[in-house]
Amino acid sequence: MIIAIDGTLASGKGTIARRIAGWYGLPHMDTGRLYRATGVAAMQAGADFEDASALAAIARALDLNDFEETELRTAQAGQAASKVAAVPAVRAALLDLQRAFANQTGGAVLDGRDIGTVVCPQADVKLWIDASVDERARRRWAELQAAGDTITLEAMTEQLKVRDTRDRNRADAPMVQAADAVLIDTTELSIDAAVEKARAAVEAARSQR
Ligand code: C5P
Repeated sequence: MIIAIDGTLASGKGTIARRIAGWYGLPHMDTGRLYRATGVAAMQAGADFEDASALAAIARALDLNDFEETELRTAQAGQAASKVAAVPAVRAALLDLQRAFANQTGGAVLDGRDIGTVVCPQADVKLWIDASVDERARRRWAELQAAGDTITLEAMTEQLKVRDTRDRNRADAPMVQAADAVLIDTTELSIDAAVEKARAAVEAARSQR
């Protein structure tokens, strides 16, 4: 069973994906990490963010073990991720890896922006997780504050809007809800309630297989 969990930044999709994977005993890939790691590696290398072939070479050479989780979670890493993610050659370089993970025996859970539309259009279950801009900004700001980042809520809201706009409007694999994805709006939901809704959607899809 392949479960595709896409959605907006700080919508709760990562937490939902981890919990759903744990519940069904499936391996989980957070595909945002691939783009974050590419963005961080590009910054470290002093790469030109306009140079598509240099960025694609960095994506192809990626070893996720080279990165600390904390350096991938910064606001700066998120911005860099969204920039490299708009480069088609970078997306192409990361595609096989994601498809191979999805197609392993027994299936997998993948979360990202384009899993249900591009990486696994044949997924058995597709979820689209979203929440209001203000609530998402508040959540990510609280996370970053807890990690010692001094970013203000206003700056976080602006950054989130910039990333949303860039992710939605890029020509290649834009962030969009797949026509056959189930929408879960987490604005007013606790994590447990959101996970429960996700599980109900997976069960409904399973019973139709
Ligand atoms: O989900 P996360 O915030 O870690 O993703 C970082 C960035 O990576 C996103 O803003 C998006 O530009 C990009 N991304 C993507 N496709 C995915 C996952 C992430 O374009 N499947």
